[in-house]
Amino acid sequence: MKRISDIEKKYVMEALDNEFASSKNNVFNQRMEIAFSKKIGASFSIGHVNGTATMHTALNALNVGTGDEVIVPPLTMSSTSLAVLQNGSLPVFADINLDTFNIDVNSIEKNISNKTKGVITVSLYGLTPDYDKINRLCKERNLFLLEDNAQCLLGKYKNKFAGNFGDFSSFSFQASKHITCGEGGILTTDNEDLADRARRFSSLGYAGIGANKGKITKEDIQDPSYDRHLCIGFNYRLSEVNAAVILGQIERADELVAQRVAVAKIYDDAISDSNIFIKQKIPQECSNSYWSYALILNTNSPEIDWYKFKKIHNANGGEGYYAARNARVYC
Ligand SMILES: Cc1ncc(COP(=O)(O)O)c(C=O)c1O
Repeated sequence: MKRISDIEKKYVMEALDNEFASSKNNVFNQRMEIAFSKKIGASFSIGHVNGTATMHTALNALNVGTGDEVIVPPLTMSSTSLAVLQNGSLPVFADINLDTFNIDVNSIEKNISNKTKGVITVSLYGLTPDYDKINRLCKERNLFLLEDNAQCLLGKYKNKFAGNFGDFSSFSFQASKHITCGEGGILTTDNEDLADRARRFSSLGYAGIGANKGKITKEDIQDPSYDRHLCIGFNYRLSEVNAAVILGQIERADELVAQRVAVAKIYDDAISDSNIFIKQKIPQECSNSYWSYALILNTNSPEIDWYKFKKIHNANGGEGYYAARNARVYC
């Protein structure tokens, strides 16, 4: 299966044919956002340049300020914490559950202080965390919940897609992700006020835009009484060409995700008799969308060593994987 098909190419040509005319410079962004909302079941989607900017926007929209604390998992890609730092706030690490590798709700609770404003959960490698417990805790302690779903498109918790549990949910369209346009991201929410604030922050604070409106119109600009900016903002907008690619990828999301799930099954079968790996545990209520197949290399016995494993794995054609300290391997 081709990762980029004729559909994406057709949309890109259409976007280019629009020649970035200001009247047509939001056509694919709008179509893409509507398609994404429909796909995962969100009320509002806001395209972004990447899936780090999305989280910076979310934190700003949620009024997280300088010195406020946000609880994050330690096992994730750096952006989860970097977005908190970019916002001037402090990431506080809760521990992970050693079976699922996802953030542990008991550890979240232990790390709540009087400065804690919220929690960012990561659906690690495509697996959602325990949202019933995390949601309950967040409600009890009046904390926001931001889902970092950069690695989890169409993964499910209790039959609901990732993206339906937090105040905001962030997705990435970076090159390694389930669907991609090279670099890109999207932020979703069901709350219109949050969507409004997020859209404005991610588009230079312009007054004339809002939850559903990503573009400043001629009507706005040609009105002398139009106050252009309501607040500080960043330019985190996604380009039309990238939006065109992602629109095509959203239409093909089921097959692109299914391909990864099928590859995971091959790994499952291949290691079923092996005792050198500890697999990421998939709780019954979750369906993993397998951004990546995750394993711990069990280095308890002296003859098993990461570098030896790597050499044999590579000699057998394995090459696309990440590794982390303590000889953990993520294929
Ligand atoms: C868990 C996680 N969060 C955030 C990001 C950041 O996304 P982006 O590269 O689009 O900024 C990534 C990956 O790139 C990721 O894996």
